[in-house]
This record gives sequence, C-alpha cells and structure tokens, in this order.
Amino acid sequence: MDYLVLARRYRPQTFDEVVGQEGATTTLRNAIAAGRVAHAYLFSGPRGVGKTTTARILAKALNCEKGPTASPCNACQCCTSITNGDDLDVIEIDAASNTSVDDVRVLRDNVRFAPARARYKVYIIDEVHMLSRSAFNAFLKTLEEPPGHVKFIFCTTEPHRLPDTIHSRCQRFDFRRISVADIVRRLEQICRHEGTKAEPEAIHLIARSTKGGMRDAETLLDQLTSYGGGKILVKNVEEALGALPRRDIFALVDHLADGQPDHALALLHRAIQDGKDTESLLNQLIDHVRSLLLLSVCGPEAALLDETPEDTQALDRQRRRFSTDALLYMSQVLWDTLRKVKESAQSRLPIELALVKLAQSDGLQPLAELLQRLQALESRLGAAAPNPASSTARRPEPAAADEKKKSVPPPAPVADRAEAQAEETERRAEEHSRRQDQAAENPVIRKALDILQGVVVHREK
Ligand SMILES: Nc1ncnc2c1ncn2[C@@H]1O[C@H](COP(=O)(O)OP(=O)(O)OP(=O)(O)O)[C@@H](O)[C@H]1O
Ligand SMILES: [Mg+2]
Ligand SMILES: [Zn+2]
Repeated sequence: MDYLVLARRYRPQTFDEVVGQEGATTTLRNAIAAGRVAHAYLFSGPRGVGKTTTARILAKALNCEKGPTASPCNACQCCTSITNGDDLDVIEIDAASNTSVDDVRVLRDNVRFAPARARYKVYIIDEVHMLSRSAFNAFLKTLEEPPGHVKFIFCTTEPHRLPDTIHSRCQRFDFRRISVADIVRRLEQICRHEGTKAEPEAIHLIARSTKGGMRDAETLLDQLTSYGGGKILVKNVEEALGALPRRDIFALVDHLADGQPDHALALLHRAIQDGKDTESLLNQLIDHVRSLLLLSVCGPEAALLDETPEDTQALDRQRRRFSTDALLYMSQVLWDTLRKVKESAQSRLPIELALVKLAQSDGLQPLAELLQRLQALESRLGAAAPNPASSTARRPEPAAADEKKKSVPPPAPVADRAEAQAEETERRAEEHSRRQDQAAENPVIRKALDILQGVVVHREK
C-alpha cells in the first residue's frame, strides 16, 4: 500500500481532535446543536493550522447520516467519503487555479442543483483570495441568498485581500498559530502511536521551528523519522533545521554580555564552517533574546514562553545579565539585521557587524549593576564632601572600628578631587582604547571596523 504521510494520516476527524482552535470549533459545535449553521463561513489563518480540516469536519457534521450532529459518526457512507475526499456533495475547489469569472459562473449554475444524496451541498473553496475581482462580483448574489441546501466555506491565508462585500456576507473565524506546547503534545501522541522513539528536546525543537504550523511540524517529524531510522534525535533535528545547538546560542549571548566581540565572531565563524545558515542562526538568536525579554518582563511563569523547563532555568540565569532596555535594544538590532540579511545577497557581514555592535555596547550592562556602581561612586564622593550643616568645612570622621582607615590621608580638597576625577576619566578612556586596540588585533573585527568606518565616511560624503 502507498505510504500516506503523517500529516494526512493524522488529520483530525472530529472537532475534539482539532488542536488549539477552540474558538472556532466550540462556536461551530454550538451552532450545529442549535440548528443555526450559517450559509457562508470564512476560515482565515496561517498555513497548516486546521482550516481545511475543520471545513471537512463541518461538512461531515452537516451531512452525517446520524446527523446533523456536532459529533459525526465517521463510519457512515457520507462521513467516509468526505474523509477520503471523494464525496459528490462536498466539493473542494482550489480558487488559485479557478480564478476566472467563467469558473464562478459554472459554480453559480451548479449551486442550483440539489445534492446527490446528502442533506447539503458543501462548497469548500481554498485560497479564495485568489479569485479575480469580477469573479467575486459574479459571486455576490449567490453568496447573499444561496439555495437552502448550499453551504459555503471559504479558506484563506490572506483575508485582507478579500473585498468587504465578501467579508460582510460570511461568518468569519480566525484560525490561530498553534502553541508550541500544543504541537509538542500532538507530536508526542503521534510518536507513541507510531512507536517512534524521540528525545523530548528534539520534539520541542521541531515544534518551535514551525512557528505554529501543525502541518509543517508533522512533515518534519515524518522526514526525521525516516532519517533517524525510527529515532528522533536532537542532533538530527538541529542538522535538518541548519540550527546551532542551543548551548552555542547561550554562549554567543554570554560573549555579548562579556563584551567579547572576538569570541562571538569566532563562534559565528565556526558555525558557518559547519554549514549553518546565517539567517536561521539569526532567527534562533532573535527567539532566544525574545525569551530573555519575556522572562525579564513577565518572570518565569510567562505564558508566552515557548521553552522547556531546563532552558527556562538557564535563560532566567542569563537574563539577569541584561537590563530590559538592553534586551529591547538587542532585539531591535537583530531585527534590523534580519531585514538586511533578507534584502542583500551578503548574509554574513550584517550579522558580524551586529555582533560587534552588541558586544561593544556599554548599554548592555544591567541597570542594577550600573546603579550599584553609581551608588558606590556617590557614597565615595559623599564621604569626601564637606558637611553643609557645619560652618567650617569639617571632614567626616573616619570609621572608628577601622584602624587602617585612620592612617589613610584625609580626603583631598575640592580642586584635588576634580583633578582625581579627571585622572579617573582619562584612565578609563585609556582602558577603553586599549580594549579597542586589542579587539582590533583580531583580523575579522578589524575588517568589520574598516567597513563600518567606510560606511560612515560614505554617509558623510
Ligand atoms: N489544529 C490542528 N490540530 C491537529 N492537526 C492539525 C491542525 N491543523 C493542522 N493539522 C495537521 O496538518 C494537516 C493540514 O491541515 P489543514 O489542511 O487543515 O491546514 P490548512 O489550515 O487548511 O492549511 P493551508 O492554508 O495550507 O491549506 C492536517 O492533516 C493535520 O494533520
Ligand atoms: Mg487548506
Ligand atoms: Zn456519519
């Protein structure tokens, strides 16, 4: 027998099985139970989240021999032929290849005929946004007042491309991206059924990578099951996704926090040597910083966090190294970089520049740390300042318990202090330029800096 891909074998057959679209499925179930099914629905949402699946279940619910029922039997002739996609009364049309006004006229004429054997003729029209404007216009009358035996279900990934006239004639359901946790549960269920052994972290990686699309997740699971001979391993998933191991992403972000652009660039270089794709690496980095940001703003219980408990712990430790502002800044720089990478043929340079920029940014230091330093500085200055309460500029008493401090010469007068501060500033500037010189000894950084300077000179011209 031909092999049926997982995504088709595990297509949900009842409303209960549809994952993560409770808004749509509950309302549809209630409408069927109350006999209030509308004559036209619009299912919108991203690819592979259950639009066609739900449309078919609705068709079964309406036409099941034991129905209309919110729980179709999946055993009668109507149910089985809808499942197999060869039912005479459930007509699936791909609007992408039937876009003309003539196609719609044919459809309009056919609508008038009664169903072959079922209660309703159900038209499931996929990619409906692809219909031409005149095709939509030819449709309007039928859509407004179709014969009682007709139901329309339009599916689209781009609802904004539909004219308002269509929107206002349909009940609309927005299908959502499915959460990582829901995808993980579904994939684990499939693995149990199939007898596939999978590392939990591997399943998590697959689920995260598909941005809420269940079909993509199942397709990847399928591919990796064949690749791993029935085993799903983290390293295979990483390889298939062109992704960097998570510990490397952690290390990369640590290098940024440590102000070590050379280490960050070396890590990037190794990843590229290993054949990793810079764009997906950038995406991983963006996801990682997003998690840090969520932890920083909402804490470890953040509902939006798509991480395993182990990663959450490690992320929570790492996020303490950054202020929320710094994480916002990082996200912004990385987003800009992603845009540049997508726009240009050159994918490596923008990410190198971003890493140097972030690693050299003083702004990445946590606010708390800066505050502490400021307070320390203040108290040092405060200790040295004259007491305004006293008419004579009395110097503060040295701490009695600290014998050593007694021997320390008294704080310098104001002029000396200004001089000391100037010295300190100078010392810091020297330190900064020494660090820059050190960094510039690294050929990759030197090249990046040259280019940056080139960009600036170019701008100024
Ligand atoms: N919400 C879901 N719950 C469980 N499985 C799902 C869900 N959504 C999608 N799937 C899986 O993905 C497959 C494809 O789903 P479906 O055809 O319904 O996607 P779609 O939203 O119509 O996508 P497209 O926009 O590409 O047509 C299903 O066969 C099923 O295996
Ligand atoms: Mg579909
Ligand atoms: Zn049935």
